[in-house]
Amino acid sequence: MLASRIFSRGFASSSFQRGAKVAVLGAAGGIGQPLSLLLKLNPHIDRLSLYDIVNTPGVAADLSHINTNSTVTGHKGPEQLGAALKDAQVIVIPAGVPRKPGMTRDDLFNTNAGIVKTLAEAAAKHAPKAHILVIANPVNSTVPIVAEVFKKHNVFDAKRLFGVTTLDVVRASTFVGQTKKTNPENINVHVIGGHSGVTIMPLLSQTGTKFSKEEIEALTNRIQFGGDEVVKAKDGTGSATLSMAQAGARFTDSLLRALGGEKGIVEPTYVKSHVAAKDGVEYFSTNVELGPEGVSKIHDIGPMSDYEKKLYEAAIPELKNNIKKGVDFVNKA
Ligand code: NAI
Repeated sequence: MLASRIFSRGFASSSFQRGAKVAVLGAAGGIGQPLSLLLKLNPHIDRLSLYDIVNTPGVAADLSHINTNSTVTGHKGPEQLGAALKDAQVIVIPAGVPRKPGMTRDDLFNTNAGIVKTLAEAAAKHAPKAHILVIANPVNSTVPIVAEVFKKHNVFDAKRLFGVTTLDVVRASTFVGQTKKTNPENINVHVIGGHSGVTIMPLLSQTGTKFSKEEIEALTNRIQFGGDEVVKAKDGTGSATLSMAQAGARFTDSLLRALGGEKGIVEPTYVKSHVAAKDGVEYFSTNVELGPEGVSKIHDIGPMSDYEKKLYEAAIPELKNNIKKGVDFVNKA
């Protein structure tokens, strides 16, 4: 079976009577299409709901011919957003504009903040208990935007809101594997902080692998700015879409398995967190154990080398600004 070769089938005790309904918002985009394809192959999904402002009928018709045991519906335009979201257990949001060469993720704020706010308002109204997975950049700010919107609707539950930082973890494994000439699938790097430039902090000292000072500096820089390699290579036509789709599908699969009762599933993700609260940072990514309600246990940062402590110090002011910008966008509008 195609799907079982890609996704694990281990549902310990399924809480989904008929499998989950997952909605993808921005499903016709560069990430949205391959992500929806991978989700169509996921055996834990029963209904796949594809929403965008363009082209979703075609994408849905195309995917609906794949012979996996789920139905696909396409929803186009704001008047169909409610139907797309109704009864969804998981909502994945890759809607929004991507970077062009020379842009930072923060440069996307003006366009994407409004898109994410609108989608969050609809989710708060039509699927207030859904788990929200935010891919749209700048993730450091769009996650607080969703939280503030949900708070305004009195439906916020920090256990159900995630910034998807999985691509940083995927890149970290790949780059370390290339450097050390080992299989990247067996390498696990704890990447903490946020999802932009210096706020991405790979804790290479926790991998158990020995690196030279030069390797640490080169790898850290490449993991922090790996997205720029893709933006540059695509030369104005977008940012990472295929690797992001894989990373987004991996995180969605991990969450669905945890919601279904499987134990011991840990993924780094950007959530409302206690770990950097002493430094005034409300949202932070560390390893998070996922469970039947979403976030089950937020792990601490763990030991950091002197070099990593400096990365942390450099990241904190930027993270604080990014978070404040998102919070203010909703509350000062
Ligand atoms: P894209 O431009 O190819 O696709 C975006 C899609 O969003 C389009 O189909 C567009 O019609 C749709 N859209 C725009 N406004 C919408 C609205 N109001 N409601 C629903 N859909 C709407 O962009 P791409 O490459 O798919 O990137 C999407 C986002 O993901 C960008 O913000 C990008 O920066 C971000 N991203 C995040 C990563 C992460 O690691 N979290 C990695 C790579 C990209």
